[in-house]
Amino acid sequence: PDSSSVVVAVDGTSGSGKSSTCRAVADRLGLRYLDTGAQYRAMTWWMLRNGVDVHDPAAVAAQAGTPVLRSGTDPLHPTITVDGSDVAVEIRSDEVNGAVSPVSTVPEVRERLVALQREIIGDGGIVVEGRDIGSVVWPQAEVKVYLTADPSARAARRALENGGTDVDATQASLLARDKIDSGRAVAPLTMAEGAVHIDSTDLALEEVVDLVVGLVMERA
Ligand code: DC
Repeated sequence: PDSSSVVVAVDGTSGSGKSSTCRAVADRLGLRYLDTGAQYRAMTWWMLRNGVDVHDPAAVAAQAGTPVLRSGTDPLHPTITVDGSDVAVEIRSDEVNGAVSPVSTVPEVRERLVALQREIIGDGGIVVEGRDIGSVVWPQAEVKVYLTADPSARAARRALENGGTDVDATQASLLARDKIDSGRAVAPLTMAEGAVHIDSTDLALEEVVDLVVGLVMERA
C-alpha cells in the first residue's frame, strides 16, 4: 500500500499522548485523523443528556442506535457532532469522564461505533486512535502502535491540558478508566498482534511523532 491508503492504528491508555501524536502524524503525512474516544464520549454525553442510567447496560443498549454521530477527520480541526450539535467541549467534562468507561463496555454501543469507524476508515489514508483499533476495528492496519506512559506523566499532561486541574484527582480518574478499559469482556485495551510498543514517559511529543512517521515510511 502507498501512504494514501495506509491505516495507522494507535491504541493506548488514557493520557499517553495519543491525540497529540496522531494529529501531528496525520498532518505531517497528509492523512485524515479519527478520534474514536471522542465517539464513545459523544455517545456517553447523549446518554447523560437524555437521562439514561449509564450503569444500566440494558438501558444503554436500548438507546445505542438513537444518536446520530458525525466525526470530521481534518487533523488540524477534528470535529464531533451529535444530532447536528457540536459537542467537542461537552465531551471533555468530568461528568463524561466518569461515565464513558461503563458506557463503552456495552456490546451494542461498541457494535454501532465499530461499524461507523470502519465506514469512515473506508479506503484508508487515515490515522485512527482508540483502545481496540489494531485488535478489533482494523486488524489489517499496516502500522499498529501501542502507546503508553507512566501514570504520573499521563496525569501531569492531562491536568495541564485541562488548565492545571488537580494532578492527583486527574491521576485517580485516569487509573479508574484504565482499569475498566483493560478489564472489560468486550474489546479490552490490549497490545494488538504486530503492534510496536512506544513508551512516551521520557519522550517529547516530537520524538514520538518521528518514531511513528518512521514506521509509516518503512511499511507503507
Ligand atoms: O481516548 P479517550 O480517553 O478519549 O477515550 C475515552 C473512553 O472511551 C475510554 O475510557 C474508553 C473508551 N474507548 C473505547 O472503549 N474504545 C475506543 N476505541 C476508544 C475509546
